[in-house]
Amino acid sequence: MVTVRFGMASDRLTRICRAGPGHVPALADLQLRTALAAYDGLFPPDAPRPTVEGLVASWSAMVADPEVSVFAVADGLDPDRAAPGLLGCVAARPDPGSPGEGEITRLYVRPDSWGRGLGRRLLDVALADRVVRGCGRAGLWVLADNHQGRAFYERLGWRLDPTRVLHGSGLRPLEVRYTRRLSHRPR
Ligand SMILES: CC(C)(COP(=O)(O)OP(=O)(O)OC[C@H]1O[C@@H](n2cnc3c(N)ncnc32)[C@H](O)[C@@H]1OP(=O)(O)O)[C@@H](O)C(=O)NCCC(=O)NCCS
Repeated sequence: MVTVRFGMASDRLTRICRAGPGHVPALADLQLRTALAAYDGLFPPDAPRPTVEGLVASWSAMVADPEVSVFAVADGLDPDRAAPGLLGCVAARPDPGSPGEGEITRLYVRPDSWGRGLGRRLLDVALADRVVRGCGRAGLWVLADNHQGRAFYERLGWRLDPTRVLHGSGLRPLEVRYTRRLSHRPR
């Protein structure tokens, strides 16, 4: 169990904890709400929208996979409770394309909590977990037109890999690759 306590600007106690099966409905809800707000206009109008059922299935698979780490941050004093109200979440796994490296596969902070340092802290915890698992590098894919996400990663020291792009099939837009070296204190 990894638990990190930290004080917020608002001085409310907030904790990051490893997520389990009980968090799945809240993880799906958080991703759906955040993606609909953040990715407005990034997908073609006729692209299929994520569904709660699909997100529940994928988060269930992630929390059950020992190779995957899912962390969540909840407001208040009882973050392990399986209740709605997660403020953010992150998922990391071994990079399928680069053995020995890690990959961030999801990172969402609820829009009304953007700019409070939660994204940075979630990433720190997920990358520290990859370091413990022996990774010296990490990568991630981000939508090429997700300027907010790209600015965030660049601010935190991630670098664009100009040699790699992902041309999504069908209506999925272009994605670009960011990577960074990991140290024992990934910041
Ligand atoms: C990207 C995201 C996770 C950032 O979370 P956040 O909690 O708002 O970020 P933080 O408050 O931790 O910011 C960390 C640093 O990045 C900077 N940053 C954050 N968003 C930024 C932006 N849009 N432009 C420039 N810098 C930005 C912050 O200023 C901060 O730097 P500082 O500490 O030196 O001031 C959040 O906006 C989000 O969930 N977006 C939608 C989903 C998404 O795009 N996920 C990533 C791609 S998968």
